[in-house]
Amino acid sequence: MIVVTGATGNVGRTLVRALTQAGEQVTGASRASGADLTRPETLKPAFDGADAVFLMTPAAFLPDGDLDAVVDVARASGVRRLVLLSSQGVGTGRHPANLEAAVTGSGLEWTLLRPGNFASNTYAWADGVRVAREVSAPFVDVALPVIDPDDIAEVAAVVLREPGHAGATYELTGPAPISPRGQVAALADALGEPVRLTELSRDEARARMTRFMPAPVVESTLDILGSPTDREQRVSPDVERVLGRAPRPYSDWVARSLAAFR
Ligand SMILES: NC(=O)c1ccc[n+]([C@@H]2O[C@H](COP(=O)([O-])OP(=O)(O)OC[C@H]3O[C@@H](n4cnc5c(N)ncnc54)[C@H](OP(=O)(O)O)[C@@H]3O)[C@@H](O)[C@H]2O)c1
Repeated sequence: MIVVTGATGNVGRTLVRALTQAGEQVTGASRASGADLTRPETLKPAFDGADAVFLMTPAAFLPDGDLDAVVDVARASGVRRLVLLSSQGVGTGRHPANLEAAVTGSGLEWTLLRPGNFASNTYAWADGVRVAREVSAPFVDVALPVIDPDDIAEVAAVVLREPGHAGATYELTGPAPISPRGQVAALADALGEPVRLTELSRDEARARMTRFMPAPVVESTLDILGSPTDREQRVSPDVERVLGRAPRPYSDWVARSLAAFR
């Protein structure tokens, strides 16, 4: 049995479906099902008897939360394999490595997935696009190789089910860097209507982001969005290495998610 934490989220939703379609027995865990990662004692019923756990960490774990107690529950439940949804920012020194350390020091089989910026972050634009055909974003011409969360889920499904990935760290990106201006153009193209783009200053963006992210994480995220390193702009070969196909472009995510923007 495989447990998927964050089962109702951008990656978890698709991962549950992919594993189920592959014939696996899957337990989806999130607060909605009574499994709260910030209260590890609530995880035991979901983890009991699982072979593998896909671990996602919500914002409450940033910047310096502790996964040790969650890993202890997994170990005590007989779990053999952990796959952590980490972040590219750990590899580039933007975020602390403590969550990964809890997993790599667990004594269990582990694999780390380090995705860059998610295509689904642009759901934050959905209300503005739907209501007024407008988007406000900072750093509108800075391009990053955003990753489709369905590609992360497909990589996770392979790593959870198949041997040969123990001890591996995969950096997951899309197939090409795209800027917010390029993303807005892709949305406009799919809608068949113009979408106006307004550039926010860093201060304006910070004021919006601190409503749903801890302050230190807002700063490191703004650093990545505004001044990415060469490594953060690089297209990683790892999605293709694991899936045997190129990662999906942002326009694919838009085509599948357009209902939220119409
Ligand atoms: N977004 C990015 O660009 C990005 C980049 C790199 C890495 N990541 C990593 O990917 C993760 C997911 O990203 P996302 O922003 O797309 O998240 P998301 O899909 O919106 O994830 C939310 C999921 O987490 C569950 N959840 C929230 N708090 C929980 C808790 N205390 N205990 C158990 N489950 C909880 C939610 O379900 P319930 O509400 O039912 O609990 C939901 O299933 C991030 O937290 C981060 O670690 C994200």
